[in-house]
This record gives sequence, structure tokens and C-alpha cells, in this order.
Amino acid sequence: MSGAIDNQQRGTWMLSGKRILLIVCGGIAAYKSLDLVRRLRERGAHVRPAMTQSAQHFVTPLSLATLSGEKVHTELFSLTDETEIGHIELSRSADLIVVAPATANIAAKLAHGIADDLASTLLLATDTKILMAPAMNLRMWLHPATQSNFKLLQERGIAVCGPADGAMACGEFGPGRMSEPLEIVASIERLLGDETKLPLPLANVSMTAQAEPLAGKHVIVTSGPTHEAIDPVRYIANRSSGKQGYAIAAQALAAGARVTLISGPVNLPAPAGVELVRVESALQMHAAAHAALPADIFVAAAAVADWRAAAASKGKIKKGSSGPPKLDLEENPDILASVATLKKGRPFLVIGFAAETDDVKANGAAKLNRKKCDMIVANDVRPESGVMGGDSNSVHLITKSGVETWPELPKGEVARRLVARLASMMRGAGQ
Ligand code: C5P
Repeated sequence: MSGAIDNQQRGTWMLSGKRILLIVCGGIAAYKSLDLVRRLRERGAHVRPAMTQSAQHFVTPLSLATLSGEKVHTELFSLTDETEIGHIELSRSADLIVVAPATANIAAKLAHGIADDLASTLLLATDTKILMAPAMNLRMWLHPATQSNFKLLQERGIAVCGPADGAMACGEFGPGRMSEPLEIVASIERLLGDETKLPLPLANVSMTAQAEPLAGKHVIVTSGPTHEAIDPVRYIANRSSGKQGYAIAAQALAAGARVTLISGPVNLPAPAGVELVRVESALQMHAAAHAALPADIFVAAAAVADWRAAAASKGKIKKGSSGPPKLDLEENPDILASVATLKKGRPFLVIGFAAETDDVKANGAAKLNRKKCDMIVANDVRPESGVMGGDSNSVHLITKSGVETWPELPKGEVARRLVARLASMMRGAGQ
């Protein structure tokens, strides 16, 4: 059974038949709500959408109606809606009300009892559980009014998922991005699966906004596979696509760092602004990594080949009558360990990846010790997981202080969070 199907089936079991009223407010993150509808329906939930006036500037009622298979409610004073269902019934018949994106405006209205449109009236006229996924500009999020409104709402039992930290549509960097649909789904599953878990804590909220938290820092990222020549036409390789490493390089750049991306052979455009060093073999990647030092952060996301041909042939090896040739292998240098154990000039943070097929967490923790790095990002690369070459990843962050498991997220989102985490680790250590 595939990992994705596995997750989906677990979810289907949890959300099957659940009725969710989804209120979409006006923000650029509204496009993610379309995906949220899909994810919820995949898991067996019935989704009834309602939209504010401003949400309709970002996504259309038609898109939401098509994806949900339901009528979309937009008007407080709608004659047909009132005869057919009524707004009170709309919010009371749901098992959960999800507000995504939740703007500063809707939070302010609910915190202060204002009901001047359909969305705010639905929220006020019910005692159904509510989950809000805030999304707004970071200054709006950090404004004392917004902070105290969300605090008040949480004290009243409203669950809040996010916001996440990172690069925003407005070009700034900090907290305020809406959580990814799969994370919101995970919160919904938690809420509907375990009645005791209300309210959720505000996740990942850093109260200090900084436009470019890695400004002035040098980040080196290794990425992609390596190719180990057997002869001029044949090589040993692996299935790494380089997507995760490239996404990390892009996010480090967005966070203001100077970024050196040392890449094995991949079919990806380098993010504009990174210093790209193309290599083929592990030996070349090792040399390029040490040549790019000094750095503040070293992220080894490459899937480096463990072995190379002991003696690559200068000419193409011919098919002969004596059967297949013998291939002697020799161990490649461990680039990550060689950087992490530098006596002089070790980067402040050295981060490794662990692509595992079994015992992901235990093997990741063993790697943390063996390679002397500060964090291992461990993921499951069994073929069924779809991680190798795929667009999403579910990772465990392993440090000396423990293991933190993230939900399945797009690789870009894993990168954004990882960079935000690295920036806060640097900041926490006064770097
Ligand atoms: O030992 P293993 O290959 O599983 O370790 C994975 C981690 O070590 C990854 O971060 C990878 O980029 C790094 N690595 C390396 N040089 C090698 C082998 C792995 O930097 N020769």
C-alpha cells in the first residue's frame, strides 16, 4: 500500500461523513482553500462553503462550488437561502466551522461580537466548534490588536492553526502565511477525532518580525544526486531530483542569505540569485563544498553516491565474450561529516538529510551522532512514499533535544519552514 494512500485511508476513516462549513475570507491565501476543499473531500468530508464579499476578489464562487459540489453561500439577506436553509441552520448543522483564510478583520469581528455580513453572522450565531487559519501581512498579524483578538478567541475555545513563518506574497518575511492545506486537515482531524484537544496552541508563531532574517549570512546547500563514472558513457546514480535542495536554496535566498548551491546533475533551473556550482561526482562535490567555505549554515541535501568505481575506464568498456566485467567499488568521502567535524571554520549550523527506507527516526538519530551535525532531516524514501522525485515530503527533524514530526507538506513548504527554523536557531544563539 502506498504511503499516500495509507495517509488518505487513515484520513477517510476520520473525516468520513463529517460536515464542515468552510468560510473563506478575503486574502491572497484564498487560493489554498480550493485545495483544502479537495483534500477534505478526498477524506470523505462534506464541505459547504461560504465566502465574504472580499474573498470573491481572490477566488470565484464557481470554483468553490465546483470543487465542493455544493452551493456557495455569500449573502446574508438571500431570499432563496433563507427559504431553503437559513444561515442559522447553515452553521449549526456543521460538525466544525473552518475559517480559512481567517483575516484580521474576521477575527476582530468575532472577538467583538460584530455580525454585519454572512460570514460574521454565521460565526456568532452558533456554538459549533470553530477552527481559524489566520493569513495576513506580518505587520497586521503582529499588531497588538490582532494578537489580543486571537488570544481572546483562543481563550473562548476557538482553535487556531498557524500562521506559518516565511516569505510572504507582499515580499516581506515573517509570521502571517496561512498554514498549508494538509496541515489544516491535520488540525481538523485532531479536532474532530479528539474532543479533548480544544483549543490548539498557536503554532510556529515567532513574535519578532524580521524582513531578512539571514541577511549577511552565507548558506551552502548541496543538492541532487552524484554521477560516478564507470566509463565515459556509463555511470552509477540514484533517483534524487534535487527539488528539496533547490527549494531550500531559494528560501535561504528569500531570507536574505548569500547562497552557494552545489548541485549534482538535475533538470531544474537554479533559483535566480544563487551562486550555482555544477558538479558530477562525489569527489567534485566534496572539493566544491570545501572551496565554498566559510559559511554560517551548511545544508547537505544531496544524495551523494556512497561508492564510486575504483578505476573508471578511460575508454568505453566493450561487451566481450568473457561475460560482464567485474566492477570494483571504492568509498566516497562523507562530505557532511567532513564539514561537521572541521576543527577550524566549521559552519555554525551543519544540517544533514537522512533518506531512509526503514526505522526512519532511529536511523536518523544514529546519523546525527555519527556525522556530528546539528540536525538531521529524516524522510521515508520507500518507493511507495513517492518522496524521491515527488513534490511533497514528510520529514522528522532530529536534534539532540528530540524528534519533531512535520505533516506531509510540499517540498517548497518544508524548505520555507526549515529555513525559518534555521534562522531562529541562529537568532536564538545570538548569531
Ligand atoms: O550516510 P548517508 O548517505 O545516509 O547520509 C545522508 C546525509 O549525508 C545527507 O545529508 C547527505 O547529503 C550527506 N552525505 C554526504 N556525503 C556522502 C554521503 C552522504 O554529504 N558521501
